[in-house]
Amino acid sequence: MSSAALAAPPRFRGRMPLLRFLSTLRDSSVATYGEEMFEEAVIERRVLWQRYLIVNAPRGVQRVLLDNAGNYVKSRVARRLVEPGIGRGLLTSEGDAWRRQRRTMAPSFDHRSLMSYAPAMTEATAALLARWDLLPEGAPLDISGEMMRLTLKIIARTMFSTDADDIGPIVEKAVGRYQREVRPSLVDLLNLPDWWPRPGTRRWSHIFDRLDAVIDRLVRRETVAGGESKDLLARLLEARDAETGRPMEPRELRDQVVTIFMAGHETTAQALTWTWYLLSQHPAEEARLQAEFERVLAGRAPRFEDLAQLRYARMVLEESMRLYPPAHTMSREALAEDEIEGHRVAKGSVVSIVPWVIHRHRTLWDRPDVFDPERFAPERAAERPRFAYIPFGGGPRICIGAGFAMTEALIILAILGQRYRLRLAPGAVVEPVGLITLRPRHGLPMRLERR
Ligand code: HEM
Repeated sequence: MSSAALAAPPRFRGRMPLLRFLSTLRDSSVATYGEEMFEEAVIERRVLWQRYLIVNAPRGVQRVLLDNAGNYVKSRVARRLVEPGIGRGLLTSEGDAWRRQRRTMAPSFDHRSLMSYAPAMTEATAALLARWDLLPEGAPLDISGEMMRLTLKIIARTMFSTDADDIGPIVEKAVGRYQREVRPSLVDLLNLPDWWPRPGTRRWSHIFDRLDAVIDRLVRRETVAGGESKDLLARLLEARDAETGRPMEPRELRDQVVTIFMAGHETTAQALTWTWYLLSQHPAEEARLQAEFERVLAGRAPRFEDLAQLRYARMVLEESMRLYPPAHTMSREALAEDEIEGHRVAKGSVVSIVPWVIHRHRTLWDRPDVFDPERFAPERAAERPRFAYIPFGGGPRICIGAGFAMTEALIILAILGQRYRLRLAPGAVVEPVGLITLRPRHGLPMRLERR
């Protein structure tokens, strides 16, 4: 294990002045956490009159996400960031609507479905490899963009049986604008009601106009095909309300499709991007990963059955999501009063669970800022408190795509990693920013070296 200094925002001691705090928060929430945050179990923050509780203690996290999950709905601040583009899909819905949607979608993420997606994942990655093979040795590439386009192609193929060639640039543009423009305003941070005017918000709702047109086309095509395929889109079209027998409203259908497009590609792309970065900084771990690929695959692409044997690769991905959790923050709002680890939670408080902090917390991890995949050796998992490691969240709202993401990430890592070594481009500045997802601010410029 080596201990190269890894990209992270500087930490300060004491309180950040309010104005600096607000402007930092609008740029990158992970840069607002001072040294104390990584030492305490529960922290109370106040932005004018709005109370925020940041819960780091795994037992407190368990209370919010699992034991008393019914008392905690997705917070208005979080919804305000997500809903302008994604609408009210599985990620943001609540109560009966959420239960119905989750039941409808679950079969698309079961073990059999994952197995059936593996060939499409392999094919899309092989196509990228063929493109890389045409580049001159040492060619510079933005790996973050490469991973985004690849995972987008995979989600389009597996979930909607379509090739992303025409959709890709449209989604890419929308995601780029979304990441650049959608910011929490002071009105959101103060948790003012939904009817309160929010300047700029109306513009956001148009970011997805072109994607909406593409989705309309996909839905019409699927409707004409009349249930021949069993992809997610077909399932959504077939779903009927248990009480009324009615199909999904067009708006709800659109929101589900955009949710899966968005939630289903960017997070996995960022997980892979950070993994390539970490491997480039840790040659010993990279060599061990290569040895495993050699032993299990000997140069060929993995089949679904091989993935269980890629144990070290899985540990590398897990450790990468510990240090750089793509979903860096989860935020909830308390419907009624509660108590978390001795702290009173008033009705309406915002409760934040921040994997970025929990995964680097001093009381939970030994040398928390060091990359060490060995922490995830199966025999050591028992040492860790439950809910100390939550890249996919936990409880009933746990990520529906966790298995999909791990399958996809292992396949991509194995295929590309066996052929290429990825090196950080000279002079590249790597800086994590956390707004909607955790991503490198300037992308990840790397050079490809053929093995
Ligand atoms: C490494 C990749 C991924 C990470 C780190 C990740 C992380 C998360 C987290 C933390 C949550 C819970 C949010 C909360 O409780 O507030 C979540 C929910 C969700 N994720 Fe993922 N995700 C990943 C990949 C995927 C993929 C591939 C898909 C779909 C194909 C997906 C679809 C969803 C959906 C629909 C939800 C909402 C589930 C619900 O509320 O019932 N995610 N994800």
